[in-house]
Amino acid sequence: MAIFCPNTISRRDFVKGSLAALGAVLSSRNTSWASDATSNERSSEKWAFVSDLHIPTDVSYNNRGFSPYKNLETIISKIISSAPDAVAITGDLSLTTGQPGEYQNLKTLLTPLSEKAPLYVSLGNHDNRDNFLQVFERLPGKRQSVAGKYVVVAENKPVRVILLDSLLYPDSELGLLGTLQRKWLSDYLNRDDKTPTVLCFHHAIAGSDGDLWEKPRLYDILGPISTTKSIKYSLLDISQLYDIIVPISKVKAVIFGHSHAYCFSEYKGIHQINLPATGYNLNDKDPVGWVEVRWTAQGGDFILHTIGGNQDKDGTIKKLTWRSVH
Ligand SMILES: [Fe+2]
Repeated sequence: MAIFCPNTISRRDFVKGSLAALGAVLSSRNTSWASDATSNERSSEKWAFVSDLHIPTDVSYNNRGFSPYKNLETIISKIISSAPDAVAITGDLSLTTGQPGEYQNLKTLLTPLSEKAPLYVSLGNHDNRDNFLQVFERLPGKRQSVAGKYVVVAENKPVRVILLDSLLYPDSELGLLGTLQRKWLSDYLNRDDKTPTVLCFHHAIAGSDGDLWEKPRLYDILGPISTTKSIKYSLLDISQLYDIIVPISKVKAVIFGHSHAYCFSEYKGIHQINLPATGYNLNDKDPVGWVEVRWTAQGGDFILHTIGGNQDKDGTIKKLTWRSVH
């Protein structure tokens, strides 16, 4: 397993770039909250990924000097300027427990972006599924029939994106996909097609030290969070998830948030991308910002855009190649 983080990465791994170097500029399009405007015939697409927004009810709230509300306002403006084909959000939309006022503020912030590109959303441990769905009644993507979970698929070319639901219950650090969702995922992935597929969910599954938390132990689950590193980020059924996806070679990458850090790792050919937070970082070494992705059927370029925190790697590009189909 290979891994890097901003504080350890070699400059040779990156190609300093700009938006202009990414290729053709894609035009903005008018869409609605519920539309899937992304063409399914493109050979490449540009997506924007954001995570850990932590939008408060009180818009003046700040954490470690960061204003999540103002941060997202700034980032949305930049994303609109980049004219993405689609946007994905990997959870922790709300500050703590997913209150309706938090989602109303989020909806206000996201509305200008929703008019330009489809927004695909997954939920985090600081979300409340029912409150979220009451405020965001209509959203893009094909919602899947998984009881008690919010699962969405963006059936696009060149890459299919599946947004899973790892929310166990609001304000719990632990995440769980659950038996029903894993069964649905296994059935969905075992259909006879070879479209490169990326999974998105909230909970981090690998740390900056390179660990992949394959099998959370009972001690981890029961032990005090403050002294048990892995429990902070654990997806409880990570090993069962990997049992499903490792043999299915069209699964190319897993994208998640939760740690508020920007890291890449790889496990058995599956790329793992940990997105930075838009709201605030938890450590001065980590950036605050969003990630632009330009992907094809062969791989993807991941471009970091920072607005705060550690901005040393702003504009850097990580190039990933998908594992081969077998
Ligand atoms: Fe978070």
